[in-house]
Amino acid sequence: MSLRSNDRQWGSMVKFFHWIVALGILGNGVWGLLMTDMSPSMSKISVYALHKSIGLTILALFVLRVAWRLFDRAPPDEPGPLWQRIAAHTTHVLLYAFVLALPLSGWWYNSLHGYPLQWFKLFNLPALTAKNDELSQTAHAIHEYLFYFLLLVLVGHVGAALKHHVFDQDNVLRRMLPFGRVRQSKSPSGELP
Ligand code: HEM
Ligand code: HEM
Repeated sequence: MSLRSNDRQWGSMVKFFHWIVALGILGNGVWGLLMTDMSPSMSKISVYALHKSIGLTILALFVLRVAWRLFDRAPPDEPGPLWQRIAAHTTHVLLYAFVLALPLSGWWYNSLHGYPLQWFKLFNLPALTAKNDELSQTAHAIHEYLFYFLLLVLVGHVGAALKHHVFDQDNVLRRMLPFGRVRQSKSPSGELP
């Protein structure tokens, strides 16, 4: 499997970024929802610190992923109606925006609240802005609702991937799966070339 994408499938770098970020962001979101219900304790502080470190890692992966994506090529769209291709690309742009906005809004909220910030206890990161209790409520709500909106968009994204796989039986899902084998594409008339 090549690092770079080709005309038939995504390369292993794109697949790595896609699946690690998907797992990381969903896991960290659920972790975030659960941790806020904990009663105050030392372990709550560690759990929060881990949430933030994982979130910052996702932010770093986002930067690397976008840089790689600009350098890599994308396999051409599978044949299909124009509206479907526009919907898919719009969804992808939205998902990229969530992957950027979620950790940034967390960092923003953390700064407004005046919490310290470290990356896996290895180094400190600066606050993005000065402490502001009033604005921190808004930032908290933005951080939380961004995750719910991500889940909403994800329903469409996963639904479309499954529709392609089960009903259209094309390569859209296969070419993104870690060990997926792509099949010969059908021509628009339905015949195999
Ligand atoms: C939070 C989780 C996820 C995020 C943020 C996400 C994000 C993205 C993005 C941004 C792309 C576009 C890739 C590019 O053009 O660089 C993409 C492609 C894709 N995703 Fe996801 N994804 C997530 C979860 C999933 C899941 C669970 C599935 C499978 C059921 C999936 C299946 C796919 C497929 C098949 C493609 C390739 C589409 C194509 O080749 O046109 N994704 N995803
Ligand atoms: C991909 C990354 C992230 C996701 C998906 C995510 C998601 C969430 C969610 C769903 C909550 C629960 C909100 C609630 O129920 O009140 C939460 C809480 C929180 N997040 Fe994140 N987060 C991410 C990254 C970050 C980062 C990078 C920081 C800080 C630098 C951060 C700081 C916080 C804090 C401090 C809370 C606790 C809020 C409270 O005590 O009520 N998050 N996060």
